Amino acid sequence: MEVIKAVKEMQRWSEAARLRGERIAFVPTMGYLHEGHLSLMREGRRRADRLVVSIFVNPTQFGPREDFNTYPRDFERDCVLMERVPVDVVFAPEPAEMYPQGFQTWVETTELTRGLCGAFRPGHFRGVTTVVAKLFNIVKPHLAFFGEKDYQQLRTVERMVSDLNFDVEIVAMPTVREPDGLAMSSRNAYLSSAERQAALALSRALNAAQRRFREGSFLAEELLAEARQVLAQEPTVRVEYLEVADARTLEPISKLDRPAVIAIAAWVGRTRLIDNVVLADVGAQ
Ligand code: PAJ
Repeated sequence: MEVIKAVKEMQRWSEAARLRGERIAFVPTMGYLHEGHLSLMREGRRRADRLVVSIFVNPTQFGPREDFNTYPRDFERDCVLMERVPVDVVFAPEPAEMYPQGFQTWVETTELTRGLCGAFRPGHFRGVTTVVAKLFNIVKPHLAFFGEKDYQQLRTVERMVSDLNFDVEIVAMPTVREPDGLAMSSRNAYLSSAERQAALALSRALNAAQRRFREGSFLAEELLAEARQVLAQEPTVRVEYLEVADARTLEPISKLDRPAVIAIAAWVGRTRLIDNVVLADVGAQ
């Protein structure tokens, strides 16, 4: 496994692979890898000749009062996990390599980023789309893998790729969960054991709403009430938003007459967690 830190070197490696006719799969990450990240990598490995993973805690997607400095990092451990996949190249630039003096060009997807996390994290998605666009120009992948765990991010990246004609196929991958239902996240490392227990309320609430949907309820308000009831049992969990949205446009909907997503962001202590469940197959009900 090769570790590349320079943009130019990564571009040269990818160009050479492309000239040999190899297909490149790419998994962008911020490291502190878990089974969710690894599931994306394994699928990338399966679907292409070469697998590149980036590990870059992207400063521009963190707000001034957010956790950029404390975001968990363990490059050595990440490398052990990536060797096992196996990954061909790890692209791990320093912030100054990605954002040199004078950097001033941004990529922004407007509508899709207005609601949900976008409403509470101003500038976050602008940072995400900008870094993903840069990474695509550096790694030059044929395929790139994103998790449904970050549903708004997935939809936003898909939109950017379509709007800016990136020649990359975006592959969406299902959310990987702990056996008790907690969606895997690098930020779970922040949780104390009591908080870890309380955090289960998120997936439980989404499950309760999904159950209600499967039982035939088509009113967003009924599903939300079901979810709120579960969340109320865990008073230490502070809900930032809980919404039923159109799965494509992410606009809030009141009737489940098209594919939808029920999404939540909540604070457990000082840790912000997100989760979602897609409510699809409306026609089959
Ligand atoms: P990060 O949070 O490290 O996630 C990297 C990728 O792994 C994302 O596509 C994310 O959706 C996916 N992922 C995280 N947890 C998952 C889970 N439990 N199941 C399935 N997939 C999961 O998302 C980012 O980094 C950054 O915003 C990035 C795209 C790298 C841009 O900086």
